[in-house]
Amino acid sequence: MSETDLIAKPQMDALAAALRRHPKLRLAHLPTPLEPMDRLSEALGGPRFWIKRDDCTGLATGGNKARKLDYLMAEAKAAGATAIVTQGATQSNHTRQSAAAAAKLGMTCHILLEDRTGSDDPSYNANGNVLLSRLAGGKLRKLPGGTDMPAEMERVADDLRAQGESVYVIPGGGSNAIGALGYVECAHELLSQAGATGLEIDMIVQPTGSSGTHAGMVAGLHIIESEIPLLGIGTRSPREKQEQMVYDLALKTLNLLGNEVPLDRARVQANCDYVGEGYGIPTRGMVEAVQTLAGLEGLLFDPVYSGKAIDGLLDLARKGHFAGLRNVVFLHTGGSSAIFAYPNAFNANPI
Ligand SMILES: Cc1ncc(COP(=O)(O)O)c(C=O)c1O
Repeated sequence: MSETDLIAKPQMDALAAALRRHPKLRLAHLPTPLEPMDRLSEALGGPRFWIKRDDCTGLATGGNKARKLDYLMAEAKAAGATAIVTQGATQSNHTRQSAAAAAKLGMTCHILLEDRTGSDDPSYNANGNVLLSRLAGGKLRKLPGGTDMPAEMERVADDLRAQGESVYVIPGGGSNAIGALGYVECAHELLSQAGATGLEIDMIVQPTGSSGTHAGMVAGLHIIESEIPLLGIGTRSPREKQEQMVYDLALKTLNLLGNEVPLDRARVQANCDYVGEGYGIPTRGMVEAVQTLAGLEGLLFDPVYSGKAIDGLLDLARKGHFAGLRNVVFLHTGGSSAIFAYPNAFNANPI
């Protein structure tokens, strides 16, 4: 059966039904567009590159966390939460969108930010996602790199409970099985769009970090029994560790959805060659790739996740990795707010 026939597959309906059993809000603007990047495809000499615009999910400038928060915040709301506690790096997109979601639902949002880069750049510490999280009422606290963040979140949650709050703790990146449901749904949405337009997707490429996005996509494609290869481009950890994290969370997500078909470990593929010196530290390749995509397609990518992943996409294309393929989809997870935290990386001189 060709992938375009998938829309008629009973597995698609079964997956939609399984997802409907989990409470969900409608914070994200869905479906996000699936668009061709024809100037990029031409510049690279093919294949045809497409972009799944999850940078357009809404919720305080969009990005991948909106889909996860649709499920996480539904659970928080059902539990009667008055306060959210979550964590991320200083320029976390997850905490920005969590603060916005909490604001919309009338909850307070307590955000612990781990200093993973050691940067003392005022823009890095006050602009971009920090600025937007504060605007949405997020209560931010910065902690040194290497802090046991889950333990610290529990400590903060206990203090809030002692003050009478009903607390819901969201893990970093919203990456647990509940959050990953958002990307199970994205896999369904993407294949529905492809099926409706007759697009044969040969490969999907996406950033992978705290792993919920990648794990959700793996789980979704597995349930649909899609053979489309999925490649995560790493943004922090080495390949083995990244793949294991994604695999473990994909198993938990499949378990949550009641799917018992064994998941082949080989379905989880990550390339972690584009991280550079470390998490959140700009690379020359990322800067050039962000400039290329802005100049060719008018698309904005972030310095930490989607920018490093698009660097990977461009480099792999130049090395012939996609030779013989017709259509490659890049899942754009957003994050462009962080550009304003890295003005020096992009040589932002006054005009
Ligand atoms: C813009 C952006 N892209 C990709 C990712 C990676 O997604 P995940 O953490 O689900 O692996 C993140 C995570 O923080 C992100 O903010």
